[in-house]
Amino acid sequence: MEKILYINSCIRENSRTNYLAKYLLSKLKGDITELVLDNTIKPLDLKSLERRDYLLANKEYNAKEFDLANMFKSYDVIVIASPYYDLSFSALLKNYFENINCVGLTFGYNDKGMPYSMSKAKKLYYVTTAGGYIINDDFGFGYIKALANTFYEIKDIKYIKAEGLDIVGADVLDILNKAKEKIDMMEEKQ
Ligand SMILES: Cc1cc2nc3c(=O)[nH]c(=O)nc-3n(C[C@H](O)[C@H](O)[C@H](O)COP(=O)(O)O)c2cc1C
Repeated sequence: MEKILYINSCIRENSRTNYLAKYLLSKLKGDITELVLDNTIKPLDLKSLERRDYLLANKEYNAKEFDLANMFKSYDVIVIASPYYDLSFSALLKNYFENINCVGLTFGYNDKGMPYSMSKAKKLYYVTTAGGYIINDDFGFGYIKALANTFYEIKDIKYIKAEGLDIVGADVLDILNKAKEKIDMMEEKQ
């Protein structure tokens, strides 16, 4: 049975992004663990960076500072949900990436300076919803795709988005239903 990690960086209680991600998850086969991101996940500062460098240098990979990294590296499938914030994704999600991207633990560099994965995941889904239109997919999905490709050698990456939800007069249910139909088609092909 595949292990699926759902990284939920949706903030609002009635998040449309979480709603779509949950629909996607209902179509996937595997054991699902949900990780709800909140502001206990801090960005690196001088103190935490120095501590992390020390722990990595001493190969203390079981330190609590690496709980999120150790969790991430043990999952087969990653599902990430984030609302479209300021042309990209939420800062909560960026904080999470800063915490899990640890050289020597979740990924490494070979002699030629090229990154390689030390994590299990082979497949990733990214789900987002936007109030208006996503002006350039590269700023959100594109970044996540590059990260997954480069550090984690994940080739199978899928993108689910619903746009225009906050435009006056938008038929929100219809937009979400169309995104759900796309999920159905995507998963039927698997
Ligand atoms: C802090 C913040 C920033 C946002 N930035 C954008 C934006 O740059 N472009 C856009 O189209 N919508 C933007 N929105 C609207 C959200 O993308 C939209 O409401 C989305 O569906 C929220 O997802 P949720 O229902 O999962 O919370 C922003 C909303 C918030 C709260």
